[in-house]
Amino acid sequence: MTGPAPGLVIAVDGPAAAGKGTLARRLAAALGLAYLDTGLLYRATGRRVLDAAADPRDPAAAELAARGLTPADLARGDLRGPEADLAASAVAAIPAVRAALLDWQRDFGRRRGAVLDGRDIGTVVFPDATVKLFVTASPAERARRRFLELQARGTAADPAQVAAELRARDEQDSRRAVAPLVPAADAMVLDTTELDPEAAFATAMAVVRQRMGEV
Ligand code: DC
Repeated sequence: MTGPAPGLVIAVDGPAAAGKGTLARRLAAALGLAYLDTGLLYRATGRRVLDAAADPRDPAAAELAARGLTPADLARGDLRGPEADLAASAVAAIPAVRAALLDWQRDFGRRRGAVLDGRDIGTVVFPDATVKLFVTASPAERARRRFLELQARGTAADPAQVAAELRARDEQDSRRAVAPLVPAADAMVLDTTELDPEAAFATAMAVVRQRMGEV
């Protein structure tokens, strides 16, 4: 494979801590494509609502925050951690927030192709994506990975609490009425429970090559 095909869009969806960010970043680097972590848009929106001392479940406050997002908001260092996680998940359930962020994501992907990771890339943002991957792993394995990630960042964490927070977020992301977390009908489901990042990448690249051969 030489350069990326024009307009190639790869959707990488899945629950939190399944390894989709690592995988999407590697795919983008290998294929010479831009990469967008769409979770950051929801995280930055949630953070702006918290800064305004408003409730992330408040539709008006959350929409205002989403419409006012700037590149600087996406570069903030405080977009991860339990408080930011739950605020992101709360604003993400609000239809007006999702609508406000939709065009931005589409413009980014269309410009010159991209790998985007999130929850609804293959179902809503790019239903015509060339390749759709749904990356998942068992809840226990995802909790283990998130715990190690927090530890590596020097954040004190309790394993049981990490698992409970992940469960709460899974539920909120899967049960919401708008753009819930579900694999697209034509997505390839990649279960990384037993795969290291290298094996997940090799499997995903094989799928990409196959799909690109077909189109
Ligand atoms: O991928 P992440 O954990 O950084 O995402 C943070 C939250 O944002 C997640 O709980 C759900 C929401 N999200 C979403 O609803 N749709 C996306 N495309 C990406 C993230």
